[in-house]
Amino acid sequence: MPRLGVNIDHVATVRQARRVPDPDPVQAAVLAELGGADGITVHLRGDRRHIQDRDVEVLRQVVKTRLNLEMASTQEMLKVALTIKPDQVTLVPERREELTTEGGLDVVLNAVQLRPTIKMLEEGGIHVSLFVDPDLEQVKESHRIDARAVELNTAAYADARDPRSCETALRKVVDAARLGVKLGMAVHAGHGLTYHNVGPIARLPEMTELNIGHNIVARALLVGMERAVREMVEVLRR
Ligand code: PXP
Repeated sequence: MPRLGVNIDHVATVRQARRVPDPDPVQAAVLAELGGADGITVHLRGDRRHIQDRDVEVLRQVVKTRLNLEMASTQEMLKVALTIKPDQVTLVPERREELTTEGGLDVVLNAVQLRPTIKMLEEGGIHVSLFVDPDLEQVKESHRIDARAVELNTAAYADARDPRSCETALRKVVDAARLGVKLGMAVHAGHGLTYHNVGPIARLPEMTELNIGHNIVARALLVGMERAVREMVEVLRR
């Protein structure tokens, strides 16, 4: 069974809607861990629309499992990561106007910029994962620039509306995952995963980590964070 990283960004989205102290993503992280999360994931965006710098600082002190910081490969974020020292950084592309991360990093195009970022983070004791589309060239290039892990973007799989396109999208994830493992990288996956669609991804023997946010936070609103995470862990165990 892969590790479950619970992304708590949208707990902070609700808080930022009013710029008040509640709900507190740090409390949500504690409850997610009680529910069985193997790690906590947050995305510190350049525009600080949900998670704030202080959240990451406090989470570093409080999280007992693993703290995975999603961030863009910028000088500003590099400084934050090297100061706070999460266990893992997942590098993602970022566009100001997007609702959520759209598509994976173009590692082939940005290798020259990404390679020194990876090196500095690894020298700082932080493991680096690259969020990429399930594309063989992107996986190969990630390995070439010394990424320890790739997180395969499951958006196309999650968005597939009919069984055939779902099967095609899953096939791409499987092929990319196999190549990643063959090259000696850890393989993670995330984006758009839900209680209903996660099964086939979770059962892939190559998967070591899944990062799931929106669907767990949405359920947590109704049943509480601890129970929502426990239910996801049960789905992953099936
Ligand atoms: N992985 C990455 C790299 C992401 O950017 C996100 C969204 O922040 C997720 C996983 C989680 O996606 P979702 O909220 O759709 O579960």
